Amino acid sequence: MLQEGVKADRSLDYIASFQRITGEQFVFTDAESLDKYAHDETENLHFLPGVVIKPRTAEEISAIMRICNEHHIPVTPRGAGTGLSGGALPHRGGVLLSMERMNSILEIDERNLQVTTEPGVITEVLQNAVKEKGLFYPPDPSSRGSCFIGGNIAENSGGPKAVKYGVVKDYVLNLEVVLPNGDIIWTGANVLKNSTGYNLTQLVVGSEGTLGIVTKIVLKLLPHPKYDLLMLVPFNSLEKAGEAVSAIFRAGFTPSAMELVEINALKIVSKFVDSSVVPVTDEMEAHLIIEVDGNHMDTLMSEMEAIAELLTRYDCGDVFFADDAQQKAELWKLRRRVAEAVKIDGYTIEEDTVVPRAELPALIRGVKELGRQYRFDVVCYGHAGDGNLHIRIRKPGSIYSLNNPDVIPALKALFELVKSLGGTISGEHGIGLVQKEYMDIVFSGAQMQLMKGIKKTFDPNNILNSGKIFDAE
Ligand code: LAC
Ligand code: ZN
Repeated sequence: MLQEGVKADRSLDYIASFQRITGEQFVFTDAESLDKYAHDETENLHFLPGVVIKPRTAEEISAIMRICNEHHIPVTPRGAGTGLSGGALPHRGGVLLSMERMNSILEIDERNLQVTTEPGVITEVLQNAVKEKGLFYPPDPSSRGSCFIGGNIAENSGGPKAVKYGVVKDYVLNLEVVLPNGDIIWTGANVLKNSTGYNLTQLVVGSEGTLGIVTKIVLKLLPHPKYDLLMLVPFNSLEKAGEAVSAIFRAGFTPSAMELVEINALKIVSKFVDSSVVPVTDEMEAHLIIEVDGNHMDTLMSEMEAIAELLTRYDCGDVFFADDAQQKAELWKLRRRVAEAVKIDGYTIEEDTVVPRAELPALIRGVKELGRQYRFDVVCYGHAGDGNLHIRIRKPGSIYSLNNPDVIPALKALFELVKSLGGTISGEHGIGLVQKEYMDIVFSGAQMQLMKGIKKTFDPNNILNSGKIFDAE
């Protein structure tokens, strides 16, 4: 992969200044460190930064940004590197700013049901810490055991529970942000309602590290539900499974998870995860994983039974009810490891399409047809209740999509299909580097000009994660 900006990486001229800011033990230029931060989970892409810096405070980041802004040095902020759209790839070299040392949960405010945290906290660690106090932070990306909460803010991540509880943006109340010029601001207030001026908080959420570097995060919490029930439902037909999804919501149920896994994905992940207690019915085309949660077990039991009864109208097989915590954990493990497993199996290209829920069967049908037309293998899985389908593509000889003429026409056709169904090209993984090529399918020139204007206001020198989402120049 050709790297932009490797010839003379100007970040190297300021190493001594960076070392004075953070201490020299947190500034890295050795080959091994640079290589470690050259990739995330996106395809097999690899771009070396000029220098890796691991700051500890917003003030240190501010001082680093002042130098980079003055000298027009590219800066790429990075969480845990679990992203799937290339947001943390330092494709223009320069400074890679790793947030890994900013990993403290600062305060759990039990009076107001809020938590204030630094960005380098692992999402699951945060969830467990608030759970100990009986509180609930629902957004749960599959990578929650390794991803950072800061990266989740950058991408506006979702996960299985989004279908009932919403995505990251629904929990972010306030952010401390270092702007590209080094100024440190708070975006809002620690309140549940806020009609005071433009919503800078929500502008930063999902901005993929292009507008500022988030250094403190205030999140809203909920009381933790007491119980949940989980079932796995096999379907003879993938499309029928898609139809069943919207029927469940139309019938008045709101599951806390409604996930779809196509049989090929389940077969592949079964090779990696020992799941002897979960029956994988491999003559079926797809499975739905359905969870309900709440505080009254008898209500949940009758909801589960009613959902199972409804599903018999959609050509499903025998329903498997997870009996205990271990069975639930195994089933979730299977689901959460799909992305990793199918990538190892050669499905390296990942798309994150989302359509209105009832259009899911049309999307599934269309994707399969495109696979035949453009000669790629495809497996589908994802958050069916949100109409958010992850589409994994395997095309022998084309392991990545970035700037790849063998793949671009197929992806254009896919995104045109998504648009025709009223959907868009990313539900929760972001645009980053690999989807920016397709932004003009879903946005007009006027919309893109507005976004570029916002970028210019925050980052006039275009140094912060530049070339992500769109090319600002
Ligand atoms: C998932 C991640 C890839 O749903 O978003 O598993
Ligand atoms: Zn997902």
